[in-house]
Amino acid sequence: MSTFPSGVGLDAFHRELDRLELVSRFPEMPRNMFDEGPHLVTTPELPWGDEVRERSIEAYRRFIHGETWITGGGAREMEAQVVGWLGGLLGAAEPAGFVSSGGSESNMCAILTAKHLAGRKGGSVVFPDNGHYSLHKLCRMFDLDPVVVPAPEGALHLVDPAAIEAAIRPDTIAIIATAGTWAYGSVDPIAEIGEIAQRHGLYLHVDGAFGGYILPFLERCGYDPTIPPWDFRVPGVCSISADLHKNGMAPPPAGTLIFRDPELLAAAKEICPPNGTMSGTRGAGPIAGAWAMVTLLGEAGYTAVSLKSMALRDELVAGVREIDGLSVHPGSRINMTLIHSGTLDLRPVAEELRARGWMYAARAVPAPVSIVVVPMPHNDGQTAPFLADLRDAVGLALPLGSGVVPAEREKVSSYGF
Ligand SMILES: Cc1ncc(COP(=O)(O)O)c(C=O)c1O
Repeated sequence: MSTFPSGVGLDAFHRELDRLELVSRFPEMPRNMFDEGPHLVTTPELPWGDEVRERSIEAYRRFIHGETWITGGGAREMEAQVVGWLGGLLGAAEPAGFVSSGGSESNMCAILTAKHLAGRKGGSVVFPDNGHYSLHKLCRMFDLDPVVVPAPEGALHLVDPAAIEAAIRPDTIAIIATAGTWAYGSVDPIAEIGEIAQRHGLYLHVDGAFGGYILPFLERCGYDPTIPPWDFRVPGVCSISADLHKNGMAPPPAGTLIFRDPELLAAAKEICPPNGTMSGTRGAGPIAGAWAMVTLLGEAGYTAVSLKSMALRDELVAGVREIDGLSVHPGSRINMTLIHSGTLDLRPVAEELRARGWMYAARAVPAPVSIVVVPMPHNDGQTAPFLADLRDAVGLALPLGSGVVPAEREKVSSYGF
């Protein structure tokens, strides 16, 4: 067909599609140091990378017309397999849950379930200052008071369990802790928080959006036996969110929300019928894409992917430490690296990196700007050029507090790509 009913011709359609693809910067994927999606690629350590990604895309495409209702038989089986597999690895004897659209929805569904179980209209939720902004968002949506517990002085990634306990109010319905914090990569003291939750009869949700598909593998293969306990092995943990479209390498949108047992999922379904999810109709494509990734990688594959991501992170960390004036924030247990400076204003540096084509997340904390990178296998071969550009760009940095940063550079959004 050369012309469609709208009058748009096939050539014009393709030209526009090509343009929109370029605007989205898909071809620059290797220079994207903070991406989510099916970007698993072949590297010397992951010889099957491209093949697994292609099979995941194939499964997505074959289920693209499907949903989770009438034709949902296959997708629901796939979802149960993914939840059962990860839930088992996370230490639940009878895991139950679903594939969500990602970390925000998973956090929402968990806390709505907690609120339903508490049988309250309003109430409060206690979480450390390092919690993701989706926690504030869900509090606004569900008329809950966010009780944010500040980090101990000078240690943004740390959490004082005693301060969490002190923040609990009579109307508190849940505590939220994080395994793989945005943007420190730290793991909250969940064993201690679990005891507190149990002592106070409170629901404890763990936001493992970033950590959920990397921490289990780093621990189980012995890479880091010092990862503090954070999953269902901690008795008080009721639910865990873990994003397939982050370290799970799956096509977005895909996350998992896993409850400790089917009774908790049943409560989620009561408040959010019929699946426990925010949405009604769900696309089967993302579920199929995620299922393919999980099925083809398994524990061995995810372990190799996790080790590759950590090797890239370690290269970056070592390189950044050699650059005068720059530091890496301590405490990361995963492939999340926050680059900042105690002496330099990095705003011109951040701009220069962007001008040179690097994609990363900028953050206003620590002020005035910090650079967050989350290396994954698709960044293979990019750490050296990134570090070279960073070293060059640091020459443009200004002394911290010199006040000569032009006004238009003052505004740095935390997700300013
Ligand atoms: C710790 C944490 N929780 C939740 C989210 C939200 O995930 P999503 O964007 O998939 O909704 C993110 C996203 O970066 C995150 O880092």
